[in-house]
Amino acid sequence: MERKKFYITTPIYYPSDKLHIGHSYTTVAADAMARFKRLTGYDVYFLTGTDEHGQKIERRAQAAGKSPQEFVDGIVEWIKKLWQALDISYDDFIRTTEDRHKAAVQKIFQRFYDQGDIYKSKYEGWYCTPCEAFWTERQLVDGNCPDCSRPVELVAEESYFFRMSKYANKLLEHIEQHPDFIQPAARKNEMINNFLKPGLEDLCVSRTTFNWGIPVPFDPDHVIYVWLDALSNYITALGYASEDDRLMQTFWPADVHLIGKEIVRFHTIYWPIFLMALGLELPEKVFGHGWLLLDDGKMSKSKGNVIDPEELIKRYGSDAIRYFLLREIPFGADGHFSEEALLHRINFDLANDLGNLLNRTLAMLKKYFAGTVPAPGQSGSLDEELRLAAESLPGQIEALMDQLQFSSALAELWRFIARVNKYIDEAAPWSLAKTGQESRLQSVMYNLLESIRIISVILQPFMPRTPERIWHQLGISADKHLQTWESILTFGKLPSGIQTAPGEVLFPRLELSEKDGTPVRQATKKDKPISAAKEVQEKVEKQNLISIDEFSRLDLRVAEIKEAEPISGADKLLKLKVDVGGEEKQVVAGIAKHFAPEELPGKRVLFVANLKPAKLRGVLSEGMLLAASDDEGNLVLATTEAPIKSGSRVK
Ligand code: ME8
Ligand code: MG
Repeated sequence: MERKKFYITTPIYYPSDKLHIGHSYTTVAADAMARFKRLTGYDVYFLTGTDEHGQKIERRAQAAGKSPQEFVDGIVEWIKKLWQALDISYDDFIRTTEDRHKAAVQKIFQRFYDQGDIYKSKYEGWYCTPCEAFWTERQLVDGNCPDCSRPVELVAEESYFFRMSKYANKLLEHIEQHPDFIQPAARKNEMINNFLKPGLEDLCVSRTTFNWGIPVPFDPDHVIYVWLDALSNYITALGYASEDDRLMQTFWPADVHLIGKEIVRFHTIYWPIFLMALGLELPEKVFGHGWLLLDDGKMSKSKGNVIDPEELIKRYGSDAIRYFLLREIPFGADGHFSEEALLHRINFDLANDLGNLLNRTLAMLKKYFAGTVPAPGQSGSLDEELRLAAESLPGQIEALMDQLQFSSALAELWRFIARVNKYIDEAAPWSLAKTGQESRLQSVMYNLLESIRIISVILQPFMPRTPERIWHQLGISADKHLQTWESILTFGKLPSGIQTAPGEVLFPRLELSEKDGTPVRQATKKDKPISAAKEVQEKVEKQNLISIDEFSRLDLRVAEIKEAEPISGADKLLKLKVDVGGEEKQVVAGIAKHFAPEELPGKRVLFVANLKPAKLRGVLSEGMLLAASDDEGNLVLATTEAPIKSGSRVK
């Protein structure tokens, strides 16, 4: 395999306070990506760090009664410990207060000045200190920062300016010629339409009214604007403008800058222009992900324990937190964080789907083959499908990861886990054992074990600890060659004869205690009368029963159909506009054979309102109408027994 390089960065964090779980989001995602690329044979450089200068930090330090350096040192130590607890495998952690960074930034500033990109003038305008951003009067929204909505301050001081205008057209051209440069696409359009097209203003790149920054080398009354300082970290960490720039030669340009959506502007306008001025290549991709929100709005440290990453790791373990962050929210979109949602993922995806698969399999292996991996015997018709699913999985995962679609990649892996669970039910090892079909039983057990091994290998980038625990139980901890990406490209690498060691459950089912809201183990089967538990368990599995929790995740509503029209080229589909309690949604429904568009407006139907949006024949669909159909081809809409207003909840 030819080795390729992969350079990925997170933003560097402001050490202005301890971080909350939302902050971990960028870093966990970047780590999963870095680990994935290492696993698939890349030479990876993964950079993170801290952004320690600027007015915000200076003020926070003052308020804490500390010098800025003392103040940040404490928090940076804390941040490093947090990353360690979350298994963040960074290759370098850069601090902007390090000499290696400061010296390079001064050289960069000097070069800009020498080549005429920087001139001295006076800045008069608005400044948002939390965002460290300059705004013009007309950019403010209700007099506040357009990004964070907090109050801005009037600033009037002598400053150096960078001639952004000189490079604006070149940047616009680059963005238009490289459709993948800014992602998701909506953020690209925002940058073009709101900032580049109206004309880019020159950027103020130094400040004189406070001291906590890198001095301008030829005019030490000025400190360099914190964003010019901070953005440069992506190259200063590689040794740019230093004696040893080998990392720069190897890894620049960055393959991905992973950032939150609120700082896309700095990364896709100012940063590329600085790079152009330095004659350097632009990064391949800047991906602006969404925010993790609480049900009552944005996260902030004042919301307490529920979002304290240290506390969450203590309660649930870092792998579960990582899994939740990566799985719950489609990368790019905003998502919600709650302990209930986290528990749901732990209990269903981790405990039930994954943990149970391992338990069931090893328990059967113990019973039928004394815990030793058998050689495959007689093959059956089910096996081929399982093998095909397993062998197509690595390619599918890799394609999704290349688009940074962590959630879809995990969904794909869990589809396979569900497939393997279903294989147990279909192949029914217990009846093979009962009827003495030994050779067939060998195959079934072998296929299950090999499938679990494949799952564990793919899991590594997302959940770095769990695979080791699985390997221990499978008895392959020491067999590094059975843990590689290469080893899962063809099905059947697991050798027979290995002695397994069934161990503790991977993820116990949890519930929040009524006493103080902390998670506790759910009562296990052992605590209940065996027969009752078994009966329930069997029903759940055989009849595909769901719990009230699962049901209540559905947001069922009454919706009124407002408009309906055919979709050209799709003779079964209609495009509908429905009203759900005042909110309009567009739905694509497969009912064109049963209704003419004009029959539909005015009808009130039952509607699944929280279905993930999807595109059908290129048309966005944001929900689903419920309808009943029989095997004679009749279809009727599920409506309410008497009129009730649209938006009413159905349960
Ligand atoms: O912006 N959900 O640093 P920062 C998701 N120093 N992501 C969140 C989040 C949330 N609730 N809250 C924060 C800075 N983040 C600058 C960067 S880079 C040259 C300089 C993410 O500490 C946020 O989107 O404010 C960003 O990606 C990261 O945490 C650091 O934010
Ligand atoms: Mg921020």
